[in-house]
Amino acid sequence: MRLVQISDLHFGPQFQQEVFERAVEEINDIKPDVLVVTGDITENGIVREYEDAKKSIERIECERKVYCSGNHDYKSTGYLLFKRLFDPKRVLEFDNFVIATISTARPDRDEGEIGYRQLIWLQRTLSKHEGKKKIVAMHHHVVPVPDTGTDRITVLDAGDALRTFAYSNVDLVLCGHRHRPWFWRVERLLVVHAGTLSSLRTRGFFANTYNIIQIDDDSIKFSLKVVGGELTSFEEFRRKSFEESVMPED
Ligand SMILES: [Fe+2]
Ligand SMILES: [Fe+2]
Repeated sequence: MRLVQISDLHFGPQFQQEVFERAVEEINDIKPDVLVVTGDITENGIVREYEDAKKSIERIECERKVYCSGNHDYKSTGYLLFKRLFDPKRVLEFDNFVIATISTARPDRDEGEIGYRQLIWLQRTLSKHEGKKKIVAMHHHVVPVPDTGTDRITVLDAGDALRTFAYSNVDLVLCGHRHRPWFWRVERLLVVHAGTLSSLRTRGFFANTYNIIQIDDDSIKFSLKVVGGELTSFEEFRRKSFEESVMPED
C-alpha cells in the first residue's frame, strides 16, 4: 500500500501554481493507493480559494482521498466550505491498516485542540481495528518541530493526545502545519510531519515537499520528495539537518 501525504497547499496569495502542477504530475506517476491531505488547503478559507483547491486536487488521480482541515481553512467561516467541498470522512479502512482523521482546527484560532470527546471517539474507533496498522492524520503537530521558532501552537492537549495514541497502539501520526518536514519516534509511535506542498512559506528546509509512505504488514517506510527534486529517506534528511544545526565552538 502506498500512501502520499500532501499538506499546507495554501491556495491563495502564497500559492505557487507551477510547483503544484509539477507535484500533480509526480504524484500521478506514483499512483498512490491513498492520498492524505493534512490541512491548510487554503490561505484564507474563502470561496474562490476553496473552489480552486477543489478543482485542482481532483486532478490528482487517486480513488481514496482523506482530508483534514487546517487553521487557515477555518478562517472566515471556511469550516462550512470545508465540510461542503471536502467530505471530511473520519475513518478509512483498508485490508491491513486504518486511517482516522482528527479535526484540530478551531475558528479564527491558530493553535489547535483535539478535545476530550474526540480523543474518546478515537480510542473507541481504533479499538475496533485490532491487528491492523493504525494511522492518525491531523493538521496541527503533536510534538514540536525544530527550526520553527517559538512553538506555542502544538495542539493544546498534546499530552492527552500522546497518551491516547499510546493506549490505542497507534503506529503512525501524520501532521502538517509547520511547513517543516521532520519525524520523531515517541516510544513505538512514529510521528511524521509534512512540509508545504505549494506555498511560498517554507521553513527550516527551503523547498516544497511531500511524503511518500509505504505500508506493509510488518513495516512502515517513509521518504521525503522534493517537488521537482530528489527523493530521500527521512533518516538521511534528518542527519543532514543535525549536521547543519551544530553550533561553532567558542
Ligand atoms: Fe500552513
Ligand atoms: Fe496551519
